[in-house]
Amino acid sequence: RGMKYPVIAIDGPAAAGKGTLARQLADVLELPYLDTGLLYRAVARRVLDQGGDPAHDGPEQARQLVPEDMRRTDLREPEVDKAASAVARHPEVREALLERQRHFGRARGAVVDGRDIGTVVFPDASAKFFITASPEVRAQRRYVQRYGHPCADPAELAEEVAAINARDQQDSARETAPLRPAEDAVQIVTDDLDAAGVLERVCLILQEKGIIR
Ligand code: DC
Repeated sequence: RGMKYPVIAIDGPAAAGKGTLARQLADVLELPYLDTGLLYRAVARRVLDQGGDPAHDGPEQARQLVPEDMRRTDLREPEVDKAASAVARHPEVREALLERQRHFGRARGAVVDGRDIGTVVFPDASAKFFITASPEVRAQRRYVQRYGHPCADPAELAEEVAAINARDQQDSARETAPLRPAEDAVQIVTDDLDAAGVLERVCLILQEKGIIR
């Protein structure tokens, strides 16, 4: 496939289980892991810190991004969720981050998770997966991540579902690199699978493709 080191692309909407899968897969395959959402989150964080407008001020901050920005601990707050989705719409932001992502993957292969990895960043990836789950399941997972226990209040869960739907809508409807499966991506619906189940499915497929033994 013309690639010295394997690049595994993992795309899908928010809280579908991409991050967990990508991290575990990187571990199993002994490949570096790149969470590209962190790049957009770090740009958003910089814009918010400067009191800027996420819809307009992303490009400048994207060009000034330094590795320490991705190690900040305040990148997963709800205000950053929203602002990251807003900066990610900007073509100049995406352009500024593209080469960084490719460079990381090319060095010695990688498991890369995001929205446009199989379609734009690594169209010639060794394998591509598109991970989804229903909005309700994703909202509940997001809640457990944040608070450590499932949500028992239907109204509160409905708010979480609405926030997730709004972000997916924005990520899917944008003109540049929208969230969508690559034609050659394997789709996996994780509603009825736990993390181990998803990993097992993916490893089986990688074996079938001859990427792992
Ligand atoms: O995966 P995440 O929730 O951390 O991503 C944060 C935001 O960044 C999300 O709203 C979509 C955007 N994003 C993107 O547009 N392209 C990527 N490759 C990764 C994330």
